[in-house]
Amino acid sequence: MKKLLITGGFGKIARYFIQNHHHQYQIIAADIVVKEGVFPNVVQVEEADLRDAKRCLELCEGVDTVVHFAGMVDPVSESDEILEVNIKTTQNIFKAAVAKNCHRLIFASSAQTIESYHTDIQVHKDMLVKPKNLYGVSKCFGEALAAYYANNKTISAISLRIGAYEFPNDFTEMNARDLSAYLHPDDFNQLLVGCIETEGIKYEVLNAISDNRYKRLDITEAIEKVGYQPKADAFELFALKRE
Ligand SMILES: NC(=O)c1ccc[n+]([C@@H]2O[C@H](COP(=O)([O-])OP(=O)(O)OC[C@H]3O[C@@H](n4cnc5c(N)ncnc54)[C@H](O)[C@@H]3O)[C@@H](O)[C@H]2O)c1
Repeated sequence: MKKLLITGGFGKIARYFIQNHHHQYQIIAADIVVKEGVFPNVVQVEEADLRDAKRCLELCEGVDTVVHFAGMVDPVSESDEILEVNIKTTQNIFKAAVAKNCHRLIFASSAQTIESYHTDIQVHKDMLVKPKNLYGVSKCFGEALAAYYANNKTISAISLRIGAYEFPNDFTEMNARDLSAYLHPDDFNQLLVGCIETEGIKYEVLNAISDNRYKRLDITEAIEKVGYQPKADAFELFALKRE
């Protein structure tokens, strides 16, 4: 069984993955805020602030794959805090993963890295980053850091540009952009398993949205490189719900 360290383990995206895949992997769920009774006992829970570099080293001991979800998620804030927290925590955990010889890093990046492109442009991974907010800037930093370590140290890395991740019943205030960038939680879980299991990757940036009939981000490489098989189409899913 592969040993995974999942940071931000009590956040929305990590929690759903862990609840569905705890029998498939040996999982450590690390978060600055932890709660009792969320996961079965087989999941190792660690309360940890990733701003603490020494703690990051402890967490990465014996880990095969680090999935880094932890951070501040706020596409509106102009506060420096978002850079301070997201840059520091990402550097600490990536550096620790390299120092502890982990096999792979998977970074939860965001479609916010490219959000300044006009919404009628489909964004491919080879286009320049164009963030619209400081949160997106912090994700550009994380991608650059992942690329740096993967290309210069003995670790493999994947940055996932996650779109609008929502459980269908919660997705009530959608606009055209959100539909085109929609990511169904089950599609994301399948993609993440592909990222954990696929061998032979040095560094990739993969787009993580569902099979929406208009796609804000191109998902060809996610399909080809890690066997992504998205099922949801937001335009069908939500149009049907409104009937
Ligand atoms: N939800 C989306 O639609 C979406 C879209 C694109 C990217 N992402 C990225 O995916 C990741 C997970 O998103 P989410 O929606 O589950 O977010 P979330 O806010 O629910 O989870 C983030 C978790 O990180 C933890 N955290 C924050 N600072 C920490 C620290 N210093 N040390 C340890 N843990 C810390 C929080 O306690 C929280 O549990 C984030 O990095 C986010 O930027 C999410």
